[in-house]
Amino acid sequence: MHFRTKQIHDGVEPDPTTGAILTPIHQSTTFVQPSVDRYMEKGFTYSRSGNPTVRALENKLAALEGGVDAPAFSTGMAAINAIFMAFLDAGAHAVISDVAYGGTYRLSTTVYTRFGVEFSFVDTSDSEAVEAAIRPNTQLILTETPANPTLKLTDVRAVSDIARQRGIPHAVDNTFLTPYYQQVLELGADMSVHSTTKYFDGHNATVGGAVVLADQEHAERVRFIQNSTGTIMSPMVAWLTMQGTKTLSVRMDHQSANAMAIAEFLEAHDKVVKVAYPGLASFPQHDLAKSQASGFGAMLWFEVQGGAAAGKALMESLELWTLAENLGSVESLATHPVTMTHAAIPAEERARVGITDGLVRLSCGLEDSRDLIADLNQALGKI
Ligand SMILES: Cc1ncc(COP(=O)(O)O)c(C=O)c1O
Repeated sequence: MHFRTKQIHDGVEPDPTTGAILTPIHQSTTFVQPSVDRYMEKGFTYSRSGNPTVRALENKLAALEGGVDAPAFSTGMAAINAIFMAFLDAGAHAVISDVAYGGTYRLSTTVYTRFGVEFSFVDTSDSEAVEAAIRPNTQLILTETPANPTLKLTDVRAVSDIARQRGIPHAVDNTFLTPYYQQVLELGADMSVHSTTKYFDGHNATVGGAVVLADQEHAERVRFIQNSTGTIMSPMVAWLTMQGTKTLSVRMDHQSANAMAIAEFLEAHDKVVKVAYPGLASFPQHDLAKSQASGFGAMLWFEVQGGAAAGKALMESLELWTLAENLGSVESLATHPVTMTHAAIPAEERARVGITDGLVRLSCGLEDSRDLIADLNQALGKI
């Protein structure tokens, strides 16, 4: 089956008792056992350890990315935390992309360092730098590609090869492209991690996360952490995320087409000094984008003449674009990473990796691109 069929049908079946075509929201804490000897006969005991609605979504996500399992979590950060807990011992070392979501940086540097875990934030677009950063105690490589917010790409094949040779698990944060555009397990990664809050949900309705795993032993480790820490996805969130997932490809195609049109408009505008979108020929890693993904996604960023002050003024003047955190939803959102999503990263570190004060991040939604461009045009006219 092809992706667009799988996103609708995989993991779910009409409800056997009623025929309901949608998986019911199994809002139940516990599951009645037929007898002590037939414990677990129907597969569920208690909703922290497994819930039929959540399981249906997990099965769908595993099928879409070719994984053996896809434990779902309360948020994307809970999913990343589960990977850390599953693979990092006290005193271990992890290699992480130097450009990544601010929460990943915060979790590493303020929580896990308390338990003696060491981190190297490395330019993972440079595979040799990844190799050089590996230490005898390296137990995890976590890359994010395209990275939030600069869109720097990591060559997933190259880093996965290095990781495999050393026996180190490689997890890729695939939130920006999803398996619809980027099949990271096929490219050699061991795990794909998602904030399902973004494109899978797609409607600004939920927060959630998932880890899709290629290896059964790794999957058991992550499942163990999911149950032990209780950072599970709720049935209601799983149900909403499942409905969103059924239209993932359609939304992503339209949103990415909007992003391309907007990037071209911005590139031609004389008040714009820089625009980055992997679909533009001017994007430094355009060829890598084409070679490891089947689409460019719907995220882009730009800087205007006049730097940070002008960038902020522009964002204040937008009328249709909404100033908000989050990305991937049907509503187009503009974000100022330095004050919003990446505030947890120290200013020097942000400057080092190119998260400048003037960077305006756009998450292109599903509106008509002509209206989105007209709004940007009027706001650019005011600075
Ligand atoms: C790339 C990426 N990974 C992980 C996360 C964390 O996800 P959540 O907000 O669902 O915890 C985010 C959130 O913005 C993100 O952009």
